Amino acid sequence: MWEGLQPELAAVATGSHIDAIPYSGKYDGVVGVLGAIEAINVLKRSGFKPKRSLEVILFTSEEPTRFGISCLGSRLLAGSEALANALKTTVDGQNISFFDAARSAGYANDQDDLSSVFLKKGTYSAFVELHIEQGPILEEEGISIGIVTAIAAPASIRVEFEGNGGHAGAVLMPKRNDAGLAAAELALAVERHVLESGSIDSVGTVGILELHPGAINSIPSKSHIEIDTRDIDEERRNIIIEKIRQSANTIAINRGVRLSEFKIINQDPPALSEKSIIEAMEASSKELNLTHKLMISRAYHDSLFMARVSPMGMIFIPCYKGYSHKPEEFSSVDDISNGVKVLALTLAKLSLE
Ligand code: GLV
Ligand code: MN
Ligand code: MN
Repeated sequence: MWEGLQPELAAVATGSHIDAIPYSGKYDGVVGVLGAIEAINVLKRSGFKPKRSLEVILFTSEEPTRFGISCLGSRLLAGSEALANALKTTVDGQNISFFDAARSAGYANDQDDLSSVFLKKGTYSAFVELHIEQGPILEEEGISIGIVTAIAAPASIRVEFEGNGGHAGAVLMPKRNDAGLAAAELALAVERHVLESGSIDSVGTVGILELHPGAINSIPSKSHIEIDTRDIDEERRNIIIEKIRQSANTIAINRGVRLSEFKIINQDPPALSEKSIIEAMEASSKELNLTHKLMISRAYHDSLFMARVSPMGMIFIPCYKGYSHKPEEFSSVDDISNGVKVLALTLAKLSLE
């Protein structure tokens, strides 16, 4: 925290995450953390004196990889009682509890009362996140800066089917209750329901599909699938979720398997950026002679949750071919430096408001 001349005023915050999905790139989140630190350094070097204090936040577990829930840190900061309760029994893939992980990182307090971290509305007058675009638009159009006006509504669902399993040679096809095929059929149903929405903005992905016992000569007796679906239109996204639920039920009946779990892990509404922060980001881009455009974020970010407790804005920079969530992810030093400059100037403006 860099204390402002009027520390009693709500501070201006910036930051992002440094955790990553498996086989990720190196820029998703990291640019917004190192960029935030550098933006503050730039302002310090320039002799700038903030009126409102400036804070850098490094969010934990933005990706759902470890504990199965996205944006864990920012979701909790934004005051999710449901998450605070769920975390009491949450473990990671190695059976390490969330609290043990937090304690070993030096974070959980003695009472493990997670509500103590909830942010009060008004703690921050603004939150701004710098991030790579994770899509191709800025690079294709040769534009330096994306100014995010809204973040799409993400949801994720966990589904499990249970069948009878059995010998891959001895159990004849009419006698099977194949939990693996139920999962495969549901994966195709997800694609169908998303396409049925008729909008290019609806997307759905089955990124996890696990079969038990996972032997080539054994009919899967259990399957586990995780579904990610998003849209910039919350209602349309919710219709897709309902269709997926209906398909899961129908598939289970038709294949004689049990739908042992259909759990909506999160079903988040979209978030809008704050007009005054958009204006500050636009003015900063102009003053720096950088081309910019207003755009939607189709990826989710900690900003989606910070928007629940603070006015929010996001700055995007181009990334190579729009690649993200894969090792080829890349942003050039020039593009990162443009983003940091716009962030620094935006923070300066917001800290003087
Ligand atoms: C963030 O990593 C996302 O999946 O949008
Ligand atoms: Mn990511
Ligand atoms: Mn990210």
